[in-house]
Amino acid sequence: MDRETAEPSVRSMPGEKAEQWVNYHHEHAAPSTYVYEFVWDITEDAAGPFCTDVDGNVLMDFTSHVAAAPFGYNNPKIMDRLEEFDLVDPSKIAGQDFYASGGGSPEDPETPTSTQLLDRLTDLTEHYDLDTVFLSNTGAEAVENAIKICYANRGHRAFTFDGAFHGRTLGALSLNRSKTAHRKGYPEIGGVVSAPYCSCEGECTCGWKTNGPAGNVVADKLHPKRGVVDPEEVAYLIMEPQQGEGGYRVPNEDFIADIVDIQQTYDIPVISDEIQAGLGRTGELWGVDHTDLDPDVITSAKGLRVGATVANEELFPSETGRLSSTWGAGDIVAAAQGVATIDAITSDGVLDNVTARGRQAKDVLHDADPDFVEDVRGRGLMLAVEFDTKERREAVVHACLERGLLVLGCGHKTLRLLPPLDVTEREIDLALDIFLDAIDDPEVRHVGASKVDGESAV
Ligand SMILES: Cc1ncc(COP(=O)(O)O)c(C=O)c1O
Repeated sequence: MDRETAEPSVRSMPGEKAEQWVNYHHEHAAPSTYVYEFVWDITEDAAGPFCTDVDGNVLMDFTSHVAAAPFGYNNPKIMDRLEEFDLVDPSKIAGQDFYASGGGSPEDPETPTSTQLLDRLTDLTEHYDLDTVFLSNTGAEAVENAIKICYANRGHRAFTFDGAFHGRTLGALSLNRSKTAHRKGYPEIGGVVSAPYCSCEGECTCGWKTNGPAGNVVADKLHPKRGVVDPEEVAYLIMEPQQGEGGYRVPNEDFIADIVDIQQTYDIPVISDEIQAGLGRTGELWGVDHTDLDPDVITSAKGLRVGATVANEELFPSETGRLSSTWGAGDIVAAAQGVATIDAITSDGVLDNVTARGRQAKDVLHDADPDFVEDVRGRGLMLAVEFDTKERREAVVHACLERGLLVLGCGHKTLRLLPPLDVTEREIDLALDIFLDAIDDPEVRHVGASKVDGESAV
């Protein structure tokens, strides 16, 4: 498939075969976050944002597998590295610090493995003085281990933010504040206090700033004389540098300055959850690189193909057996893919492209000023369009699908656009033409008023 000429072409979406696949698949799949009937045909051509589904429809994928495939489909820089690779058995290395795998020397291996993934991650977080990594399999595990190392160090309390999403294991979901469905009925870790995530433009109206003794919700609670939380008991504060699931909200600069102040005054470790915003998605390597905050822990996953908890050695418990995972670091292919993906992201021009293409998309959307759109926001290629109602957002997602563009919801009435990091100018124009046409669809125009401000589809 030639990215320079490819275009979406849809006969019927979903087609007959996709419906057949979906029905068959769902006979045994537990209900989770079913979104729509897209069935990628892995035997057909796919490149960058373009892929072919089982009915022969050519689609543009502006979801990048929920940011887990940062370059979309079949990126040559990643594929070439993988072709060098012959599968071995066992392909998963049990207990990442029981055994290591390699060939050649560790500085110049024949095939990069989890050892080189550790190197890459510490190189990329050196500016925060983070030099140690625990590898796991998923984002939730990366978060789970981040909070474990902080709890091991100090305190049993923690701060999280309204709208936060950190994963679905019991520890991680105790920190979620985006949707009721995530936590409903499940036991939670105690001592987690939430505060507003201030994404106000200009003056703060979200409730983060207060008239209290220290001027914001968290600092007031920690205040030595009038506070209600002993700072010594606080193990960590966890935040997304741009909220994901919660609606792609970008933090206000003053809010970040307050967090830095709290971190420095009370020596409370800050975890930056980079699972969605990290690895170049926002135009910087880490979402937190846009800010003045120096995180104590970074969590990463998705495009990395495994989960990673990165911190300074001092924060990790030294006693053996405190952290471990049989299949931590994924399998050998995943680790090699993670290394190849990092190398592709850090190769010349990719981050600049993310910034330029993100700006292009926003300019097109602002100039078109489409009906029903309340806000266009986000950094780099972590873009969101907020609609007037959830129903309208759902109708737009559907109308895009019918025209061959895959997009996803987030928040309550917001839609996210996650093109591949090497998306081209032509591809952005092509996708946004479809998007604007979808907003003009009679089905979208005739959507009634929202009755309930309900859950997002994803
Ligand atoms: C910010 C953030 N943290 C954690 C997670 C959980 O990652 P995983 O689904 O790999 O467990 C996600 C997933 O979307 C996320 O966006």
